[in-house]
This record gives sequence, C-alpha cells and structure tokens, in this order.
Amino acid sequence: MSDIDTLAAEADRSIAAAPDLMALEALRVTLLGKQGSISALLKTLGAMPPEVRQVEGPRIHAAREGVTAALTARKDALEAAALDERLATETLDLTLPARETPRGAIHPVSQVMDELAEIFADMGFAVATGPEIEDDWHNFTALNMPETHPARAMHDTFYFPDQMAAGGGKMLLRTHTSPVQIRTMVSQGAPVRIIAPGRVYRSDSDATHTPMFHQIEGLVIDKGIHLGHLKWTLETFLKAFFERDDIVLRLRPSYFPFTEPSVEVDVGWEEVGGRRVLGGSGDDPGHGWMELLGSGMVNPRVLEFCGLDPAEWQGFAFGVGVDRLAMLKYAMDDLRAFFDGDLRWLRHYGFSALDVPTLSTGVGARA
Ligand code: DAH
Repeated sequence: MSDIDTLAAEADRSIAAAPDLMALEALRVTLLGKQGSISALLKTLGAMPPEVRQVEGPRIHAAREGVTAALTARKDALEAAALDERLATETLDLTLPARETPRGAIHPVSQVMDELAEIFADMGFAVATGPEIEDDWHNFTALNMPETHPARAMHDTFYFPDQMAAGGGKMLLRTHTSPVQIRTMVSQGAPVRIIAPGRVYRSDSDATHTPMFHQIEGLVIDKGIHLGHLKWTLETFLKAFFERDDIVLRLRPSYFPFTEPSVEVDVGWEEVGGRRVLGGSGDDPGHGWMELLGSGMVNPRVLEFCGLDPAEWQGFAFGVGVDRLAMLKYAMDDLRAFFDGDLRWLRHYGFSALDVPTLSTGVGARA
C-alpha cells in the first residue's frame, strides 16, 4: 500500500471513531487544514515530474475527496444523534404553572362578547353559532326577505360569484347574525333561548363602518311570549352591561322583515365631560336618545319557514352591534382602530387575560 492509501485508510478509521463534533473538527484540521497531512500531500505535487504527477495527482485528489465526504457523513451522523438525544431528554411540561404573567391583551370585542355571554347565561340563554359563509336562504329568504325584497339592497352583501348553495341560491358572507336564528330553530325546534355572537360582513367602510364587524343576536321562542318579555330582557341586559340602574329605554315602532311588530330601541344618555354617557331618560334636560338596537316579535312567517307552528309558538328577537356596545362602554371613538392591530391601541384598550367577566365581580372590571 502506498503512503496515500495508508493515510486515507487511517483517516477513514479515525473519522468513523470520532466520538463528538469537537473531535471531528480537530481531525478535519489535522487532515485538511493548512498544515494538514492531506494538504501536505497536495503540496508534493508541484515537485513531481509530470508523468508521476499524472498518476499521483488524481489519487491524492481522490483521497482528499474521500476524506471530505467521510467528514461530512460523520458530522451529519453525530448531529442527528445529538438531536435525537435532545428530543428524548428535553420535554416541555405544559401543565406547569407559568413563571411569568401572560403578555398580550384580550381585545375589547372579545371581552364584551364574554361579558354578554355571562349576562345572558344568567338569564338562561345558551350561546349558538353559525357559519360566516352563508347561503341566501338562511341569510335572507327564511328571514322573510324574498329575492325581490328591498331590504336586501340595504345590506351591501358580499356574494361569492362562482359558488352556489346545495339547494340552489347564492353563497355570501352573512350580513347579520340573524341567520343563526333560522339555523337554531331548524335544528333544535322549540323552545329556544339563545344568543349568537359573531362576525358579520357588509361592503361598507368609514369611521363608524368596517367591512367586517360584530353583532349579537338574541332569540327566545316559547309559549305565551310577548313584548313585555322582550322589554324586560333588554332592560335587564343593558343595566347589567353598562353597570347602571338608571338605564332608560324607549321602544319605537320600526320595520324589519323578520319581526312583526318591530321595535327599535333607543337608550337615554347625558353629557358628562363632553362625552355622551348612557343613563337617565333621553327626555330630561341635558339628555338625549340614541338608537341602540333592533328587535321585535318573531314574524310568524319566519316560524313557518323553520317548521314551527305560529299558533303554538311565539318569540322575540333582537340584534345589536357588539363593536358599538364596546365603544359606548369603554369610550372609544374610531371603529377602524378595532381592526388595525396597533399594539399601542391594544395595550391601552385591551384587557388582562385573567380579567374574566363574572356577574359577582362585575362584568366591566378594568384591567
Ligand atoms: N339583523 C338586523 C340587522 O343586522 C338587526 C336585527 C333587527 C336583528 C331586529 C333582530 C331583530 O333579531 O329582531 O340590521
């Protein structure tokens, strides 16, 4: 065996035996470094007569390549073994208590939805949900808005141009949470006592309108339900939500296709330090009324669409903007800031993750 073969064979053996990455690196330097043994062999090429170099040159280069490949293979193997060992020994126990208090904040919309769920749970309401991608039938038709109904035009609907619902009809982004009324009645029949919070979409954008916003729907279906139940429920809800006993409501006749009669609910406010604060009768001096939500007795036609007999079942429904409620309660004036994702805004208006709203500690406790 020539020097080259001996050297290469020895190199291979020590590379294969290198116990760790540090030993391997030391070997690399000994073999391929400036003063390394393979490098020394390469240097001998210059002094060789051409015919010898023609034979020895390729052998020395082959030896260098072989050693380089062996080093790389060993390095990969050692790294893989190190990773396996780390994976086997390093475990993360997610059940351990956090060492630091959580960072980040709960968005006011999430907080308000939690507050609403808490308030309504206390009145026996369950939380229902429905899809944000809806079909025409649930969003409009079953809510007593046939294709030709003018109220449809007011909704500035986002349609999916290339998608059709299974039973025909267009697919769309729901324009309100009212289709959850339909889905709930169809799937669970009566009686019903639900709220349905969620995202809704309309092609609209300015300081008080964003293409996506949040609503909460309420629906009660039972026997002998009348407008008095609606008024009591809304009063109880708004007093708990705004944490004031002097919330005064004014019910105004209105029109929604899915309720009959329909009432728009105004709430009295007074001016405090240049801001409108809810409380008191809007008719009192220095006070006014602001429109807060839509509601009414569920239209018998809607009950029929859902397979319920209007002679047996009655109910009321309401729908209110969650963002609007949050703005009123926590004194925020630009709706667009809700969805900008600006950390300064989130830190300022956000809530602590541990500030879970409960009726006993107050649904509005600030972080
Ligand atoms: N869906 C209506 C809207 O988005 C709000 C509404 C009004 C909901 C009256 C109701 C209701 O349930 O009874 O404008």
